[in-house]
Amino acid sequence: MAELILKDITKDYGDGDVIKGINLRIPQGEFCVFVGPSGCGKSTLLRMISGLEDVTSGAISLDGKDITKVHAADRGMAMVFQSYALYPHMRVRENLSFALENINTPKDEIIQRVGAAAKMLQIEGILDRKPTTLSGGQRQRVAIGRSVVREPKVFLFDEPLSNLDAELRVQMRDEITRLHKRIGNTMIYVTHDQIEAMTMADRIVVLHDGVIEQSGSPLELYDRPCNIFVAGFIGAPRMNFIEMKVTDVKGDHIHLEHTLFQLRIPAGKHHVSIGQEVTLGVRANHLEISETDNADVIGVIERVENLGAESHVYARLASGEGLTVYKQGYFEAGDKDKIGVKIVHNKLHLFDTDSGGSIFVA
Ligand SMILES: Nc1ncnc2c1ncn2[C@@H]1O[C@H](COP(=O)(O)OP(=O)(O)O)[C@@H](O)[C@H]1O
Ligand SMILES: [Mg+2]
Repeated sequence: MAELILKDITKDYGDGDVIKGINLRIPQGEFCVFVGPSGCGKSTLLRMISGLEDVTSGAISLDGKDITKVHAADRGMAMVFQSYALYPHMRVRENLSFALENINTPKDEIIQRVGAAAKMLQIEGILDRKPTTLSGGQRQRVAIGRSVVREPKVFLFDEPLSNLDAELRVQMRDEITRLHKRIGNTMIYVTHDQIEAMTMADRIVVLHDGVIEQSGSPLELYDRPCNIFVAGFIGAPRMNFIEMKVTDVKGDHIHLEHTLFQLRIPAGKHHVSIGQEVTLGVRANHLEISETDNADVIGVIERVENLGAESHVYARLASGEGLTVYKQGYFEAGDKDKIGVKIVHNKLHLFDTDSGGSIFVA
């Protein structure tokens, strides 16, 4: 069992709150990812959970027991850092066994646990090497192994893959996900990379400026972001945002106006008022390139990223807004070429421009 509950957690390093009242329940066995831009408080929150940092106010409980004041070493948690933090003078084997020796674990058990972790992480062949002789991926496996041998209730990861090259990152992502499936422990994983969050998480917690903007499964956040911040943060390419005004409400449809074009979209029973400033959110794959005389709006191409299987077309509207259009396969066009863009009336997001909050997804 390892259910973690954070209640009204704040942190002030002396210059105002950087964590501003976090409430969160992480059930036993969940792979929970904290994601958000640099400086939003992810590491601070993780360090408070681990006990490496005090909370300024609030309470943390693990399996119903208040651990707010419990020393880091006694919380039954293990942390894996971006920097690996291996002991350079020790061989891999001692790096793995050190913490267990410290708490006087019987020798037989140490050998058994180190052997099992090494096998699981496929580092049996490097147990007699020093960290400096290892590749980044091997070092990160050892760092994870050092947590595994301690058999913690909760694993904490702070951007563990940020130092690895792209290919290795994808591989380690998969390995950590499989480790979680195999051992089933509660894991909290911090990253600023929304793709890591999308691919690894049971649940994503989006942090911004010390508060939780939204928490939910990857697809919930992708399909139903609760505000402009989450909509812009989750999903690549980034969601397009177009500022419009409600000019009419008729039956279950509303009329939106932009300086360059108009749109009529179904609004169901959701309430909007005439004159309301709204932001239309459209993902790049819900825009289509069309003939200019058949388009909702016309843009000028600034840049095309041909990625092979798909292309990202970056266009600029005369009103100044940029639009990213997703296209399968290659897209051949020159800079400054005019393109027509059609808005697919499916999965349109409407936000209130003032508050940033989602009004509906149509
Ligand atoms: N030890 C510290 N002393 C003072 N301010 C800190 C300290 N650690 C972090 N901060 C501040 O707290 C905020 C959150 O930092 P951090 O948790 O490291 O963000 P993240 O991990 O999301 O990048 C930042 O504004 C950072 O400057
Ligand atoms: Mg950090």
